[in-house]
Amino acid sequence: MLGMKAPSVAGIIGFLVATARADGPTEQSIFGDINSLFPCEAVAKVISNASTVYYPGSSEYTADVLHWSSTNVIHPACSVEPGTPEDVGAILRILASSRTPFAVKGGGHNTNPGFSSTEGVHISMSRFNDVIVNSSEGTVDIGAGLIWDDVYAALDGTGVNVVGGRIPGVGVAGFMLGGGFSWKTSQYGLGIDTVKAFELVLPDGTITNVTEANKDLWFALRGGLNNFGIVTKFTLKTYPETEVWAGMLIMSMEHVREFNAAVVKYCAEVTDKKAALAPVYTRPSGSPATMLGAVLFYDGPSPPAGVFDEFLAIPTIAGGAQTGSFLSFIMSMVAAVPPPGGRRSYSGIPVLQYSASLIEVVRNETVFWGDRLTKLDPTFSVTNALEPFDPTMFSYGAPSAYPPDRSRPLYPTNLFYSWTDPSLDPVVHDAIWQSTKAIEAAALAEGQELVGAATYPNYALHDKPLEGIYGKELARLKSIKRRYDPQNVMGLAGGFKL
Ligand SMILES: Cc1cc2nc3c(=O)[nH]c(=O)nc-3n(C[C@H](O)[C@H](O)[C@H](O)COP(=O)(O)OP(=O)(O)OC[C@H]3O[C@@H](n4cnc5c(N)ncnc54)[C@H](O)[C@@H]3O)c2cc1C
Ligand SMILES: *[C@@H]1O[C@H](CO)[C@@H](O)[C@H](O)[C@H]1NC(C)=O
Ligand SMILES: *[C@@H]1O[C@H](CO)[C@@H](O)[C@H](O)[C@H]1NC(C)=O
Ligand SMILES: *[C@@H]1O[C@H](CO)[C@@H](O)[C@H](O)[C@H]1NC(C)=O
Ligand SMILES: *[C@@H]1O[C@H](CO)[C@@H](O)[C@H](O)[C@H]1NC(C)=O
Repeated sequence: MLGMKAPSVAGIIGFLVATARADGPTEQSIFGDINSLFPCEAVAKVISNASTVYYPGSSEYTADVLHWSSTNVIHPACSVEPGTPEDVGAILRILASSRTPFAVKGGGHNTNPGFSSTEGVHISMSRFNDVIVNSSEGTVDIGAGLIWDDVYAALDGTGVNVVGGRIPGVGVAGFMLGGGFSWKTSQYGLGIDTVKAFELVLPDGTITNVTEANKDLWFALRGGLNNFGIVTKFTLKTYPETEVWAGMLIMSMEHVREFNAAVVKYCAEVTDKKAALAPVYTRPSGSPATMLGAVLFYDGPSPPAGVFDEFLAIPTIAGGAQTGSFLSFIMSMVAAVPPPGGRRSYSGIPVLQYSASLIEVVRNETVFWGDRLTKLDPTFSVTNALEPFDPTMFSYGAPSAYPPDRSRPLYPTNLFYSWTDPSLDPVVHDAIWQSTKAIEAAALAEGQELVGAATYPNYALHDKPLEGIYGKELARLKSIKRRYDPQNVMGLAGGFKL
């Protein structure tokens, strides 16, 4: 089996010259096992008893390499579950000196190929799983291996909450290192705007706490993804939480006129920052038609009259909003999220305004690509989401890698495609790019000044050029990167690389 032997001379030579073994073809490159044989053993030797290396065949390995989307699954030579920041540092030193490709997985929800998967050494952060509230400080320490569901469950009943993910299953780490759009973003800003400190293992293996005092790393980590090291803990501000009123409504396309009018009116008129809305055009897998959906959220037991009235007046096929705990709202969406397994792709389109004409283009794109791709793969599904927030949403935080320009709001419109047949990957990729371009072009054509507008890194397709994400801050980020990672250790892990 892969990587199970002690480092033999053949293994070390194999590691240097990458001779193929006759194990037969696998999903990974034939060099993956040989390349990483020695590093797995070396990692196992340097870690403390708080950490463990796992090999193919074990249930821990299987769990470690699981991702929400199979587009981001590669079978590594081994996985390692570090249990202390010191062990993360020791692992990074081995990977750096052997130039071994590696991955860092938080919640495993990124869909881009290789962004948290590797042929080499796969680091799963799952043992960093503490949630520790400090009520005198108004903060909570959150381990970097958690998903938001766990955080909300731990905070349930404490009277406080955090600015975290909107949908079940999403990881804390990827969300927080890319920006973080929350149900509370209109009230408090992005997730990164609520961080008090990052516990960070630098690429050279040393452990540091990054706070506002460290101007450069503070800027770079807030949107700079996995380019500056491995985060083991986030200290976040907490905010008071009451019961919330929220839920998801599904409506038939025959009501699209009222629905689109309700979206445009909400965007133009609602100034209550406790309100949040996510309208979608969606063709679920196996459905013959595109439907309308909307998640309504109010950060209090009931929304004031006028906030959601137009949506509530539309007859629903399913769903509804109700008063309950924040946790129960999040968990009520579990059934709406496809389980881990299929192939998935995200694309993001920053826009300044959801006008009637632009959202009609998004609707048409949903119907057009839903029809076309369902003919090629009957399991295909598409959900295109509008993500309006209060226009002040970028005013809550200091400068950060993302968004590179906080002077105006950009709403991170999300296209989400799901399919099964891997041979269709290039076809779907081409489709989601074309659709992204069509919506961008429509926004430009109606006069939105989007030249140079930054795409949200956590929604960007893997081949999005970095200029389109970091804009005018790209040069500064590259220079911070050179200072903290002169050997480009983090370049051995996948993702948007500075
Ligand atoms: C169903 C669904 C709902 C979503 N909802 C939202 C939403 O409401 N708001 C929003 O803003 N985004 C949302 N997203 C996007 C989400 O933020 C990204 O997919 C994000 O990458 C997920 O983080 P993760 O930890 O689960 O992913 P992973 O795939 O584990 O990691 C993502 C990236 O972060 C890196 N990384 C992970 N852990 C660490 C660490 N400890 N240190 C350094 N680097 C690390 C990985 O190497 C990888 O490059 C959603 C995604 C999905 C699939
Ligand atoms: C791990 O090692 C520490 C220190 O070396 C020791 O105190 C502890 O008992 C060990 N724990 C286990 C589970 O072996
Ligand atoms: C909260 O933080 C303060 C200041 O860092 C510290 O003195 C105190 O012990 C912490 N309390 C808890 C419960 O961790
Ligand atoms: C980081 O801060 C914590 C307290 O918040 C402290 O216990 C720890 O020693 C600090 N680590 C480093 C490396 O400075
Ligand atoms: C709908 O979108 C498709 C694909 O972008 C485009 O070819 C078509 O012209 C659009 N239809 C309308 C009515 O705009």
